[in-house]
Amino acid sequence: MTGRPYVIDQMISAKAIAARVEALAAEIERHFAGTDKLVVVGLLRGSFIFIADLVRELGLPVEVDFLEASSYGNAMESSREVRILKDIRGQIEGRDVLVVEDIVDTGHTLSHVVRLLEGRRPRRLETIALLDKPSRREVDIKATWTGFEIPDEFVVGYGIDFAQRNRNLPYIGKVRFTDAA
Ligand code: IMP
Ligand code: MG
Repeated sequence: MTGRPYVIDQMISAKAIAARVEALAAEIERHFAGTDKLVVVGLLRGSFIFIADLVRELGLPVEVDFLEASSYGNAMESSREVRILKDIRGQIEGRDVLVVEDIVDTGHTLSHVVRLLEGRRPRRLETIALLDKPSRREVDIKATWTGFEIPDEFVVGYGIDFAQRNRNLPYIGKVRFTDAA
């Protein structure tokens, strides 16, 4: 399946992403103004470029941590089973936390991670997703901030992969198969 030939059609340009990241950072700054330190938790691996750009726009003291959650299943199908492969290193009790996700699709991953981290009693916990596919939702969850709402297309680039490829594209594009299937 991952051997099927495909091309990538640009959907969101690098310039549009940069402008949106700047605007989101301004909103986050306002929301967390006065924080002693914001713990920014990136969900590996898809958020790595987004978090890198976002924290550089944030005029707040930040700590960066990472969590890796994985769903069982193949490259293009989401799963309801969420496992924590790598937990954050820091303590978040009484802290301000921002969870950074690449895409909210069915919502299982983000809702699982939020439940896990809320259980550790942070002072405030908010979420941000670069992309949201609301039409795919199975769990009632919405990120506090969303970069772009997109239709039900499989996308790659800006950190997001298809079978571990195309993460290094500077823009977001949609995968279009070029064979007959
Ligand atoms: P959810 O648990 O269904 O919300 O899935 C979220 C995760 O599925 C995201 O963090 C991505 O890793 C992955 N995912 C969902 N849609 C896409 C896509 O279009 N391209 C690449 N990965 C995706
Ligand atoms: Mg992911």
